[in-house]
Amino acid sequence: MTTKQVAVIEGEDASPEAVRPVVELIDQMNLGIEWVYPPVGDKGVERFDSVFPEEAKEMIDASDTTLFGATSGKSAFALLYLRWGKETYANVRPAKFLPGYHSPLSNPTGIDLVIVRENMEDLYLMVEGELEDLAPANLTSPILQKSVADMGPGKYGVKIITQAGTKRVSKFAFELARRRKAQGRPGKVTVSSKYNMLPQSDGLFKEVAGHVAESYPDIESETMIVDNLAHYLVVSPQNLDVVLLPNLYGDILSDAAAGLIGGLGLAPSGCYGENYAYFESAHGTAPDIAGKNIINPTATLLSAAMMLNYIGCVAASSALKTALEKVYKEGRFLTPDQGGTSSTTDFVDAVAQRL
Ligand code: IPM
Ligand code: MN
Repeated sequence: MTTKQVAVIEGEDASPEAVRPVVELIDQMNLGIEWVYPPVGDKGVERFDSVFPEEAKEMIDASDTTLFGATSGKSAFALLYLRWGKETYANVRPAKFLPGYHSPLSNPTGIDLVIVRENMEDLYLMVEGELEDLAPANLTSPILQKSVADMGPGKYGVKIITQAGTKRVSKFAFELARRRKAQGRPGKVTVSSKYNMLPQSDGLFKEVAGHVAESYPDIESETMIVDNLAHYLVVSPQNLDVVLLPNLYGDILSDAAAGLIGGLGLAPSGCYGENYAYFESAHGTAPDIAGKNIINPTATLLSAAMMLNYIGCVAASSALKTALEKVYKEGRFLTPDQGGTSSTTDFVDAVAQRL
């Protein structure tokens, strides 16, 4: 058995309460995983006077992958490094309904979609500033017929969509659709952005994805304007397979997709690059329930299952998912967000017993 090293970043507020029992559970599966804990956030400050010291970065670099909890701020520098430093450009966010999930829909059966969110560009590049600083660029709004620098005091934010960035995430999405098709899914990619209003930036996203689609004749591809997709996601989620989105729309709609199946506590994610991937629940740190041992660890468990796949523990990954499915089907050990009264640790114990 080859040893894999996994860096664990527990995150803040209620997040460690989900991460710790999940790590324990996987540790008990004896997969030869060595867990290391980069000193980030408060621990980084205590030991190295920094929320993200060089030591933490080195530990992430030396690991095969990272399991990340959720951050309210202090671990955010580590998150920025995991995304932009490690170039994890494809943020994969599955929303699959399992019997037993408390979905708000009357018929959630069959929802099994994956959002592939471009993870490095768009408004997330944080290029913002004062409107007046745009004066030298002489930018004119085609709608106002007026220079944006003459609009009075205000701020701007720049949306950046590159050809290369869109191409690689599009390829990723089509490859994913192909792998899913081999497992019985329809094999479809829905490409979406606001290309009617933003023909340049969002238009490029659609255009580049369209070119990539031509290399995948076995995969159906469709385009949808993003507001239309938001509607479709609610009324017809069963007809979506892989959904490819620029960064910000992907951020927003992945929370919506999580809501469809039963909430953020159920939403895992994996961010993949050429040389690294890391895994994180898509939810926040749930400060309102911190310290109560009731956070739903499903998102973390499913993220960990994605991680196991990535490091080659494929059988363990499916075993974990099967055990989780059993717990939901039985419905006896659910956390409060899913209508139960079980604690986080009771839930994880129930999964462990069904492994
Ligand atoms: C997410 C989160 C992050 C994001 C925050 C914490 C910066 O909402 O992973 O979806 O916006 O990407
Ligand atoms: Mn988000």
